[in-house]
Amino acid sequence: MKKTVIIIALSILSLASISAVMSFSGVGDREEERYEEEYESEAHEYGLFRGGWLESRADVRPVRDETYLSECGDCHFAYQPGLLPQRAWERIMESLDEHYGDDASLDETQAAKIRAYLLDNAADRADLSRSRAFATELETGDALPRITNTNYFRREHYEIPERFVQGNTEVGSFSNCEACHRSADTGVYNEHQVVIPGVGKWDD
Ligand code: HEC
Ligand code: HEC
Repeated sequence: MKKTVIIIALSILSLASISAVMSFSGVGDREEERYEEEYESEAHEYGLFRGGWLESRADVRPVRDETYLSECGDCHFAYQPGLLPQRAWERIMESLDEHYGDDASLDETQAAKIRAYLLDNAADRADLSRSRAFATELETGDALPRITNTNYFRREHYEIPERFVQGNTEVGSFSNCEACHRSADTGVYNEHQVVIPGVGKWDD
């Protein structure tokens, strides 16, 4: 991965200097255009273009909906829709008045808007593979579904001792994704970027 990044960076640098020299020495506009096109398509391919770089590294699509961010990101991290399948979001939106022991009721218009946003972008509709891993059906009985209860989540976190989570005042619960995943709000959950507060960088 690192090697690819360096190669891409070097080739972009060399493309840039070639085109700089060309424009300096008065090589025709057409040549320059060609390099410009090549640069653009390459950058596109690697997701380097127009902020796409970050998005291409994301495990789930970052939240873009302002209503969702303000209404569902107040008490806790605004979990990306791509972290649960449609059925789970439907259940959560049906019982906002009894929301994991809290009252998270919304007026009808806002609730409908947020529901639509969640369903449109849910894990079982997502295009990123990490998101699809969260889409597996989860049996929770009468209890509300949780991201932290999905098989995929458990598989990824079972090695982390309780003292780093429940026994850690700076984390408290696995539901606080952003406590350990410092780039969680950008949709990046890469295991190499995990820093557990008071413990340090995760290295397994
Ligand atoms: C009034 C505060 C409050 C608001 C507003 C709120 N929540 Fe929550 N939410 C909670 C609490 C408390 C929990 C349980 C956290 C825990 O167990 O650590 C929770 C848990 C969750 C979980 C489960 C996380 C896990 O453990 O996997 C999801 C999903 C969730 N909320 C989604 C939403 C959505 C969607 C909205 C907006 C419609 C919302 N929340 C608004 C308080 C709130
Ligand atoms: C106590 C710290 C902590 C919290 C809180 C936490 N995680 Fe993690 N997470 C980790 C660690 C450590 C790993 C790497 C585990 C391993 O590979 O051994 C990980 C791995 C992951 C992975 C796999 C990444 C990869 O590159 O394979 C995903 C996805 C993920 N977490 C999502 C979440 C989400 C979503 C939440 C919140 C609902 C969350 N995590 C909460 C520590 C945490």
